[in-house]
Amino acid sequence: MAIYAIWNNKGGVGKSYLTFQLASEYARQNPNKKVLVVDLCPQANSSSMLLGGMIEGEQKLTEIHTFQPRCTISGYIEDRIRSPYMSPNAGAGYISHVSHFNNKIPPNLYLVVGDEQLEIQASRVTSATFPGPQDAWRIVHLWIRDLITDIHTSWNNEDSCTFIDCNPSFSIYTELALSSADRLLIPFSADGSSKRAVQTVLSLVYGVRRHPGDPQSDFYLESTRYRMAFPNIYMYIGNRLTQMNRSSASAFKTVVNEIGDEIWRVWQASPQAFCIHPNGSPTPNSKKSFKIMFQYEVNDANTASVVSGALGIPIASLTAGQKDVAGRFITVNQSQLDKQVPNITQLVNNIE
Ligand SMILES: Nc1ncnc2c1ncn2[C@@H]1O[C@H](COP(=O)(O)OP(=O)(O)OP(=O)(O)O)[C@@H](O)[C@H]1O
Ligand SMILES: [Mg+2]
Repeated sequence: MAIYAIWNNKGGVGKSYLTFQLASEYARQNPNKKVLVVDLCPQANSSSMLLGGMIEGEQKLTEIHTFQPRCTISGYIEDRIRSPYMSPNAGAGYISHVSHFNNKIPPNLYLVVGDEQLEIQASRVTSATFPGPQDAWRIVHLWIRDLITDIHTSWNNEDSCTFIDCNPSFSIYTELALSSADRLLIPFSADGSSKRAVQTVLSLVYGVRRHPGDPQSDFYLESTRYRMAFPNIYMYIGNRLTQMNRSSASAFKTVVNEIGDEIWRVWQASPQAFCIHPNGSPTPNSKKSFKIMFQYEVNDANTASVVSGALGIPIASLTAGQKDVAGRFITVNQSQLDKQVPNITQLVNNIE
């Protein structure tokens, strides 16, 4: 029943792409489990990919946005704005069965569709956190947890796994995602600003001060006041790290090693923020064993990723050959797939 939030407050590091690939691959590897994606990003990128990609997925997304009542995350949030402190237990009405829209997605995958209305709703969600009962902040921050519980209940609490795609901003809806997740997957890319982002996540979520006397986030302070659980860091996923070109590969390596050192320092300072993987491995006691448990590298999937996302075909189901992407033919090479597929398969093997 694990709930993973995929978040980094740095934009464009692959949160949505990885949500799409991870959830689809997890569903493929675990046909007897139900998999839920909650798209808590107003850009709805992971929804678009799951629903069939750039052309068909976008059409389906627009269609779903016009359903009445609105069968999206915003439909649910609207319910909760009307009933902030008492859950109507109606969350299960807001899921879409993805394979009905896109037959490339395994039949055990369900989605609470993302919706741009989240932006407009954000201020009303924030206002719900201060009038009302004394613990209004806590109750509102559990809205998404309530949504997931409603859906699990409608599945008779069968074994399942949830992935939440987050917006980069540390906005109210990201806070709601973090309050509902048990585990955090943090994608990052090989650039200098990702090094800073590794620290920023720590300070925003766990109140780790970069400098003595720095203010701490309301999220950290309020979660602590209400003794709410924080999600634990499950893995840092270096995304698009491996490049074809040899000289850029070595330049990348320098930056990746720097970021690796930063993550190692985070572990040394705040081991309690991490989730020891439930696969029987002992708590890491060296940089090497730490890296094995908490760091993973995802290759740049080049053309395969463009086609996979644009057509809404998870990488493991993509075949080699010419693909029609918006009227133009793009070739996916078998050699690319031979590299990319095991890379994602192995990552999912590490996810409980
Ligand atoms: N492993 C990969 N290989 C190739 N392309 C990738 C890979 N991961 C992500 N991309 C591409 O990088 C771009 C940014 O990825 P994505 O939209 O998933 O980032 P994000 O973190 O969700 O962004 P935002 O912060 O805006 O929500 C997309 O075009 C995506 O297809
Ligand atoms: Mg995104």
